[in-house]
Amino acid sequence: LILILDYGSQYTHLITRRIRSLSVFSLCISGTAPLKSITDLNPSVIILSGGPHSVHEPHAPSFPDGFIEYVESKGVFVLGICYGLQLIVQRLGGEVRVGEKQEYGRMEIEVVRDCGLFGYRGIGDREVVWMSHGDEAVRLPDGFEVVARSQQGAVAAVENRARRFYGLQYHPEVTHSPQGMETLQYFLFDVCGVTAGWKMEDVLDEEIKVIKGMVGPEDHVICALSGGVDSTVAATLVHKAIGERLHCVFVDNGLLRYKERERVMKTFERDLHLPVTCVDATEQFLSNLKGVVDPEVKRKIIGKEFISIFDAFAQDLEHKLGKRPGYLVQGTLYPDVIESCPPPGSGRSHSHTIKSHHNVGGLPKDMKLKLIEPLKLLFKDEVRELGRILEVPVAFLKRHPFPGPGLAVRVLGDVTEGNALEILRQVDEIFIQSIKDAGIYDSIWQAFAVFLPIKSVGVQGDQRTHSHVVALRAVTSQDGMTADWYNFEHKFLDDVARKICNSVRGVNRVVQDITSKPPSTIEWE
Ligand code: XMP
Repeated sequence: LILILDYGSQYTHLITRRIRSLSVFSLCISGTAPLKSITDLNPSVIILSGGPHSVHEPHAPSFPDGFIEYVESKGVFVLGICYGLQLIVQRLGGEVRVGEKQEYGRMEIEVVRDCGLFGYRGIGDREVVWMSHGDEAVRLPDGFEVVARSQQGAVAAVENRARRFYGLQYHPEVTHSPQGMETLQYFLFDVCGVTAGWKMEDVLDEEIKVIKGMVGPEDHVICALSGGVDSTVAATLVHKAIGERLHCVFVDNGLLRYKERERVMKTFERDLHLPVTCVDATEQFLSNLKGVVDPEVKRKIIGKEFISIFDAFAQDLEHKLGKRPGYLVQGTLYPDVIESCPPPGSGRSHSHTIKSHHNVGGLPKDMKLKLIEPLKLLFKDEVRELGRILEVPVAFLKRHPFPGPGLAVRVLGDVTEGNALEILRQVDEIFIQSIKDAGIYDSIWQAFAVFLPIKSVGVQGDQRTHSHVVALRAVTSQDGMTADWYNFEHKFLDDVARKICNSVRGVNRVVQDITSKPPSTIEWE
């Protein structure tokens, strides 16, 4: 296992992904996790991520006491990236100073001695890398050597081969460091002697084993199916592990898209052969959301309502089976976990939780059902791959993600006001259908419409109108952690906007969202 300790860099998850793409399993935990969390995982390599802090800040996040002794006694290789390098230097007795030479962006570095890190290169070799640091290592701990320097002469890479400590001042994980992957690959395979071999088939076997071990032979499990990729793959996997003792429920919370319930139920029966009960809870959800405008409050309410429905479903099953199901399957993904639980002491924790994904942050503490989250360590594209192995129909795997809180986070403000939900459903359907007709659905990570709680003046059929504004959002992304807005052809946008205003009553203006993530998030709430 390659363990990444997260100190809050926006690129940390990329390190995890890059290493997994080399068929090596990697996991990321908070950089301030206690020593036991690290030793329990028994990593062969530990990577300390970058972060927005300076090691001189009074409460600068750091690895726990005993960390150095642990890695040295076990022979664990340690690589510090950016802030991670500075932590190593400072904690091992060197000196880090607020840099005279702040370095941001593309930069050239030069290998200055024979070394382990750049063993595939020669002295004098140069490469372009992505730097982003203010502080600088000015004196190295005993036994450490500078192995590469930046154009400005600053320390770009260090190592202490005997003690197995390495450090890169730049970010090898970003694509702006074109040879970064090669460096990571060489470090893992040649320097640390890691062997590749992590496959999605292994994940499947492992998860099935874990679920079988967790759920007793008499226990029953319930699963909330949303019709999306994650819950479908999670349900199929659990079904493979425990068969008929899995009971699926599909909740119509009144926040679904146009004809979603009918469409999804039909596909479950026809293509998936999973037993699914449909519960109509529209009234329950919408009455609890009435008057609520705060996005986080909405998310928490929805999470709570879902759980109360699952509890009721479990109770019904108890009557039927004579035993109450004790487990709930959720399709929680790794990005949900990362974004809902930023590491303490990291920049992200200071800037608050970004969103409480209803299946992570929004669960009530007194929930009786125990959670089974077989996808908790996977990114979306990895889940799709797992789905392919499980022979989940491609139509499911290719579906755009849809958030658990549904249209509630796409109607800004009170979702129950007027006919906002109905308008949004119609607009969204026109938009998505047009995207499918244009043959570009699969090139887009996610597309949807947003209902704005404002009205604007228009003129329709020679009459002044004062109607609603809707926004169209479409993005491309690898994993939902970062995203770019999708660049439609003007003719396409023109057709869609015209169609929406001509056929959806109550809308007289269509705008397009052209922000990436960051600074925006994909959903508007
Ligand atoms: P954001 O808006 O945070 O979204 O950039 C990233 C991805 O996550 C989806 N999303 C959710 N999925 N429960 C979910 O299951 C949620 O509460 C939730 N909120 C956002 C979003 O649609 C995008 O794909």
